[in-house]
This record gives sequence, C-alpha cells and structure tokens, in this order.
Amino acid sequence: MMPLKTSVRATLGLAFLCLAFGVSLTGCKWQPGFGYNKGHSPEQPIPFDHKLHVSTNGIQCQYCHNQVERSKHSNVPALSTCMNCHMQVKTDSPHIQKLAEAYSKGESIPWVRVHMLPDHVTFNHSAHIRRGVNCQTCHGQVETMQKVYQNADLSMGWCINCHRQPENNAPLNCTTCHH
Ligand code: HEC
Ligand code: HEC
Ligand code: HEC
Ligand code: HEC
Ligand code: HEC
Repeated sequence: MMPLKTSVRATLGLAFLCLAFGVSLTGCKWQPGFGYNKGHSPEQPIPFDHKLHVSTNGIQCQYCHNQVERSKHSNVPALSTCMNCHMQVKTDSPHIQKLAEAYSKGESIPWVRVHMLPDHVTFNHSAHIRRGVNCQTCHGQVETMQKVYQNADLSMGWCINCHRQPENNAPLNCTTCHH
C-alpha cells in the first residue's frame, strides 16, 4: 500500500469526526474544494469536435477510447487512430495537416487533460464499464459537445452517492478509493 499523502492523513481524523456526527460527506465543510472542476474545458492544440465525430459521423466512443474496457485508465486516442480516416478525409484542412505532420514525424498531439482527480484517489474505468455504467452517466452527453467539458464535479460526495445506492452494491470503505 502506498503511504497516504500527509494532508490526507491529517484530515482523515476530521473525516471520521464528521462521519461520527452524522454530517453527510458532501456537507463536510472542512473539505477543501479541489477536484471540483465542473465545467472545466481547456483549450486543445487542435480543436476536436465530439459532436461531429460521434453524432454526425456515427463513430463509437470505444473506437477511439479503446482502452476503457480493459484498463484502469481510459485513453485519449493515438494519432494512428485519427490517421485511419484522415489520410484521406479533409486533407485540405490546416488542422488535419497539423495532424499529418505530427504523424509523419512520429510525434503525438499534446492533448490537455480535462478530468483530473487528485493523486490520492483511485479510479478504475474498466470496473465501471463492466458493470454497465454508461459513459454518459459520468461524462454527460459527450456526443453533443463540440468542445468536451467536465460534466460532474468529481467530488467524493458524487462518487459516494452512486456507490451507496443499494442496487449498485458498490464498495464504500475508504481504502477502495484511497490507497
Ligand atoms: C474520433 C475519436 C473520438 C471519439 C469517437 C470519441 N472521442 Fe472522446 N476524445 C477524443 C480526443 C482526441 C480527445 C482529447 C481532446 C479533447 O479533450 O477534446 C477526447 C477527449 C475525451 C474526454 C476528456 C478526456 C480528459 O482529458 O479528461 C472524454 C470524457 C471523452 N473524450 C469521452 C468520449 C465519449 C463518452 C465518447 C462517445 C460518446 C467519445 N469520447 C468519443 C477522441 C474521440
Ligand atoms: C472514422 C473516421 C474518423 C476518425 C477515426 C477521425 N476522424 Fe476527424 N473527421 C472525420 C470526418 C468524416 C470529418 C468531417 C469532414 C468534413 O467536414 O468533411 C472529420 C473532421 C475532423 C476535423 C475538422 C477538420 C476541419 O478543419 O474542418 C478535425 C480537427 C478532426 N476531424 C480531428 C480528428 C482527430 C484529432 C482524430 C483522432 C483523435 C480524428 N479526427 C479521427 C472522420 C474521422
Ligand atoms: C463512473 C464514472 C465514469 C464512467 C462510467 C466513465 N468515466 Fe471516464 N472518467 C471518469 C473519471 C472520474 C475520470 C478522471 C480519472 C482520473 O483523473 O484519474 C475519467 C477520465 C476519462 C478520460 C481521460 C483519461 C483518463 O483515463 O483519465 C477519458 C478519455 C474518459 N474518461 C472516457 C470515458 C469513456 C469513453 C467512457 C465510456 C466508455 C467513460 N469514460 C466512462 C469517470 C467515468
Ligand atoms: C454512477 C455510479 C458510480 C459513480 C458516479 C462512481 N462509481 Fe465507482 N463503482 C460503481 C459501481 C456499480 C461499482 C462496482 C463495480 C464492481 O462490480 O466491481 C464501483 C466500483 C468502484 C471501485 C472498485 C473497483 C474495483 O476494482 O473493484 C472503485 C475504486 C471506484 N468505484 C471508484 C470510484 C470513484 C473514485 C468515483 C468518483 C470519482 C466513482 N467510483 C464514481 C458505480 C459508480
Ligand atoms: C467511492 C470513492 C471514495 C470513497 C469510498 C471515499 N472517498 Fe474520500 N475522496 C474521494 C474523492 C474523489 C476525493 C477528491 C474530491 C474531493 O475532495 O471531494 C476524496 C477526498 C477525500 C479527502 C480530502 C483529501 C484532501 O487532501 O483534502 C478526505 C480527507 C477523504 N476523501 C477521506 C475519506 C474517508 C475517511 C473515507 C471513508 C469514510 C473516504 N474518503 C471514502 C473518493 C472517495
């Protein structure tokens, strides 16, 4: 087990106090507000339009995010996945020329992370996908987003609220999400 971050260790005691007094986890006012990045939508090196690719052109999420079922992490697609189409499609676009140039140099596109849980939190995509939780449940209607943004606040309360639904039978103990 990895040692807990000092700040986490220091606040764990408070967390238990909070629980002991029956305050809901979301209501714990001492909780610092990081991770709460709802709506976050950073600029990308190449503007990538999910609506155009998913809704207009019918490309499935997992055609591009192809690690999501197997791995702890989902992934942003490799350039070779883009070039399956963009060797031919829209080659007159300056954005596509930028893709092609990076591809021919063996470089990758430095996509900027949208979602970012703090280091002390463990999340596992494959466990959720295998249980049939949809991408949209957590990420919202990505197929309508011309520029992707963070849909949920990714707070501990958000995770716990779903885990504690009886039908989900999901683990609630602290070490599930904090190692
Ligand atoms: C044609 C390829 C492609 C398809 C299809 C696609 N995506 Fe993406 N997705 C990307 C790329 C490229 C990025 C990184 C650029 C960005 O964030 O806009 C990305 C970023 C994301 C992110 C943000 C990742 C982060 O940095 O936190 C989420 C969430 C996401 N996609 C979900 C989905 C979902 C859900 C679907 C299906 C409804 C989908 N994607 C379909 C290529 C794709
Ligand atoms: C399955 C085919 C397919 C894949 C894979 C694909 N695209 Fe596309 N992409 C398209 C189509 C179709 C269009 C719309 C072309 C048009 O407007 O005529 C498009 C349009 C675009 C545009 C807009 C170009 C412009 O200037 O109008 C960008 C940027 C783009 N794609 C980036 C990407 C990136 C980055 C990836 C890899 C993460 C990717 N695409 C993967 C089919 C694909
Ligand atoms: C139970 C909620 C949940 C579901 C379901 C879910 N995601 Fe995520 N996703 C997250 C969280 C939380 C993060 C941030 C993880 C981190 O920062 O470590 C994330 C991050 C991502 C990222 C950024 C790369 C990464 O792994 O950190 C992509 C891409 C992504 N998700 C795509 C998808 C796709 C595609 C689906 C559906 C096949 C999906 N997600 C289903 C919660 C979810
Ligand atoms: C929409 C409902 C939902 C949300 C939101 C959700 N989870 Fe889960 N989670 C589940 C379910 C259902 C399981 C049980 C999966 C299984 O059968 O192992 C689970 C299991 C897990 C597991 C155990 C995985 C394993 O390997 O057994 C971890 C870790 C986890 N979730 C972390 C998180 C974190 C962290 C968040 C918030 C960032 C989160 N979850 C948000 C539904 C959810
Ligand atoms: C289902 C996943 C999940 C479970 C179970 C969980 N947490 Fe968390 N926890 C998170 C997430 C996500 C964050 C980061 C977002 C935030 O601060 O709300 C977090 C943040 C925290 C923080 C703030 C850390 C800091 O540096 O400020 C503390 C303290 C904490 N959790 C304690 C606990 C305790 C104690 C338990 C057991 C009663 C627990 N957690 C159970 C997901 C979880």
